[in-house]
Amino acid sequence: MTGTAVYEIRRVRTREELAAAIELRHEVFCVEQGVPERDELDGRDHEGIHLVAVREGELLATCRIVLVGTTAQFSRLAVRQSARRQGIATALLSAADDESRAGGARRIVLHAQTYARDLYDQAGYRPRGRVFWEAGIEHVAMEKLLD
Ligand SMILES: CC(C)(COP(=O)(O)OP(=O)(O)OC[C@H]1O[C@@H](n2cnc3c(N)ncnc32)[C@H](O)[C@@H]1OP(=O)(O)O)[C@@H](O)C(=O)NCCC(=O)NCCS
Repeated sequence: MTGTAVYEIRRVRTREELAAAIELRHEVFCVEQGVPERDELDGRDHEGIHLVAVREGELLATCRIVLVGTTAQFSRLAVRQSARRQGIATALLSAADDESRAGGARRIVLHAQTYARDLYDQAGYRPRGRVFWEAGIEHVAMEKLLD
């Protein structure tokens, strides 16, 4: 712990908060990582469950879950640069487990950027298949079975 105030993890509550989450994704994926806007905005935000981490009114992080039958597709995990390495992504992954279970999912799948694989390994994900390139970034598909 770095002495910072506690943050809250929950679903987005308002249209404005969803817009702020999408803006953070833009900053992280498009500006920082160079992902094309057309890949970042894939037209599926309306079907997603959007989780956020909020501290003292500031949106620190977000992720998205899309439920397809008994599979939860996890994506768009972005943590503001100033808030990294404080366990926030790990907390979002844990909340995503709960949301996915509650929505009837039996497994969660995601495309991990390989540099961050440890994050997902530690959260109980296992790789499935070979490394591939997506939006100019090296990825590996990973899966977690939910009990
Ligand atoms: C990757 C990202 C989501 C991690 O968020 P975070 O809140 O800093 O992650 P956590 O603090 O929960 O990290 C947990 C563990 O994951 C691993 N990890 C996190 N960031 C890492 C990094 N940049 N490089 C290597 N391992 C990393 C570490 O093992 C870390 O444990 P440690 O801090 O004790 O070493 C964040 O850096 C980010 O938004 N990056 C840009 C967007 C991105 O890459 N999204 C993921 C797409 S798959």
